[in-house]
Amino acid sequence: MQTKPLFIQNANEVITLQGTAKPRIGKEMEQLSIVKNASVWLEDGVIQAVGTDEELKQQYKDRLDEAEIIDAAGKIVTPGFVDPHTHLVYAGSRENEFNMRLQGASYMDIMNAGGGIHATTRATRKATEEQLYQESERRLHRFLLHGVTTIEAKSGYGLSFEHEVKQLEVAKQLNESHVIDIVSTFMGAHAIPAEYKENPDEFVDLVIDDMIPKVAKRQLAEFNDVFCEHGVFTPEQSKKILEAGKKYDLLPKIHADEIEPYGGAETAAEVGAISADHLLKVSDEGLKQMAAAGVIGVLLPGTAFFLMAEFANGRKMIDAGVPVALSTDCNPGSSPTISLPFIMNLGCLKMGMTPAEVLTATTINAAHAIKRGDEIGSIEKGKKADIVIHDVPNYMQLQYHYGINHTHTVIKNGKIVVQGGQRL
Ligand code: NIG
Ligand code: FE
Repeated sequence: MQTKPLFIQNANEVITLQGTAKPRIGKEMEQLSIVKNASVWLEDGVIQAVGTDEELKQQYKDRLDEAEIIDAAGKIVTPGFVDPHTHLVYAGSRENEFNMRLQGASYMDIMNAGGGIHATTRATRKATEEQLYQESERRLHRFLLHGVTTIEAKSGYGLSFEHEVKQLEVAKQLNESHVIDIVSTFMGAHAIPAEYKENPDEFVDLVIDDMIPKVAKRQLAEFNDVFCEHGVFTPEQSKKILEAGKKYDLLPKIHADEIEPYGGAETAAEVGAISADHLLKVSDEGLKQMAAAGVIGVLLPGTAFFLMAEFANGRKMIDAGVPVALSTDCNPGSSPTISLPFIMNLGCLKMGMTPAEVLTATTINAAHAIKRGDEIGSIEKGKKADIVIHDVPNYMQLQYHYGINHTHTVIKNGKIVVQGGQRL
């Protein structure tokens, strides 16, 4: 057990992300509050101080001997990345559908023909907790190597109480055993399961009257999400499901306007959702309502990339005053990746965001999107010592040298867990 304080010194840049305590909007997303030639002192799992080398060496001059020194010369330091939207816990894979899509089949056609989410639901129902644990742990391991220290994880491949709970239990176990922190979301309303195909409203009632109260009672989730999409859940059904969750303190999230403009963003604003995610096809009115209600837009460009669809307009959303976060949407159908660094590349190259904005979107705004903005997402005194050192001399190179994992060192709760790109 490492108990020594950690002193990160000589960094070219420490990207602190210090600023307002609220999700960052508009120009605030450009402001990274960078300290050059900088150091950070970590102790007891908490960030104790950040400043110039000179300042910190003076402040800790009597204690430098007792610290483990990490030299970050030529490198940059950021908060640990936060991925606020993943479907981490699932079984199997869908490369066959990928192949079909490459030959022209559409994502929704595959789903409506019983594949897609239904295929992963069959595999996940069949899997034991142990199998799910192993497959998901492997993904978590890779997230960590890419600088991610906290992720959100949704259920939604069980679609029955028994199997939704199985997924949520696995997320809970992983949260306890793995260094990455996992924040859970119940997503029983991810698809209408085959057995309710003829009676979708009956399934909506089951989610509302049975699953939500039981999941909440077992304290297995903090958020409640629904796939609001033509042919899946209507805005009306989504609203009912999200309002039902609120009664049990499950905060609403929504998969909104991914495939078609469908009023998902408007529903998010109406129910006071913490975030509306996807938004490839969001209406101008929806954006306006999100900005007014303070709903965070969680953009998932891996999905547009992988489904060969038009990207969400991140630029427009930021300019409209919507706080924007970015995420992998890690899932076996529409975005089978764990690479948040690549997602940031896409944010810049395909959604009109700047290198500064994508960093805000994967740290402090991502933290706010899972209600952790006061604990993580920036480097400031009192926050968790979740830190990444990247092997680049300035933050713009994270995006400029695209498609590369620049993660060098990961510190989680004040402990080095990745060094030289390798898990310790
Ligand atoms: O966020 N859009 C709905 N749900 C997931 C995809 C799930 C799947 O295809 O397995 C998403 O893209
Ligand atoms: Fe998703």
